[in-house]
Amino acid sequence: MSLLSVKNLDKRFGGLHAVKDVSIEVEAGEILGILGPNGAGKTTLYNLLTGFIRPDNGQVLLDGQPLLGMAPHKVVGLGVARTFQLCRPFVGLTVLENVMVGSYGPRVHTSDLRARAMQLLAQVGLAGKEDSPSELLSYGDQRRLEIARALATEPRLLLLDEPFAGLGSAEIESLSELIRDLHRNKGLTILLIEHKLREFMQLVSRVVAIDFGQVIATGVPQEIVKNPKVIEAYIGKQEPEHAA
Ligand SMILES: Nc1ncnc2c1ncn2[C@@H]1O[C@H](COP(=O)(O)OP(=O)(O)OP(=O)(O)O)[C@@H](O)[C@H]1O
Ligand SMILES: [Mg+2]
Repeated sequence: MSLLSVKNLDKRFGGLHAVKDVSIEVEAGEILGILGPNGAGKTTLYNLLTGFIRPDNGQVLLDGQPLLGMAPHKVVGLGVARTFQLCRPFVGLTVLENVMVGSYGPRVHTSDLRARAMQLLAQVGLAGKEDSPSELLSYGDQRRLEIARALATEPRLLLLDEPFAGLGSAEIESLSELIRDLHRNKGLTILLIEHKLREFMQLVSRVVAIDFGQVIATGVPQEIVKNPKVIEAYIGKQEPEHAA
């Protein structure tokens, strides 16, 4: 059985059919890439999977258990965490506090929260920055903080939405390494949306390509980059600043 099974998912915003009959199987332990031009429906798909918006139709099962219709915090409780296309640190909180919020719960002791958050910050490469106000971090470090905050919820499945956006090549390389490490050493299953194609293709084991809300191709990176539909949809429409 797949870890996540998405069946015939559909979402309209008025006259715009943003997600159209999308079916995707995510296997435990894979890094699955979601590829598509601007406006293809990728973030909307994440919003549907994580309970931020409700679909018009379809089914989503996590380990066989239905997810749709649940509030975002319930989805998190089942082991699905996400990061956002635009970084959203809790402004006014320190880096450490941002991560502590992620694992907060009625039965967790504050000192345990702190110790766990410190461990996660070290894991994502933010050791020594725990007392910094989160909004003063560099953009690359804010991306790392977002990942640490997601990890604090102890996910099985992590959804990353354009983690490399706005980063320089050295930062992209080290963040790629972190994602690889989370996958290999922590056994996380990862969904990755990213426009930086070279790094994206190096990270993912499989790709689902989407255009106008519909799945147009599924395959390993070597197949996807040669697929004429993907080339037409993606390369043909890509905005210059997003080009790999
Ligand atoms: N809440 C909303 N209300 C109305 N339209 C929306 C809403 N959210 C998304 N859309 C529209 O749905 C379409 C898909 O948007 P989405 O953000 O999912 O694209 P995307 O594939 O993530 O694009 P990008 O690569 O630019 O992030 C777009 O046309 C967008 O304007
Ligand atoms: Mg998006």
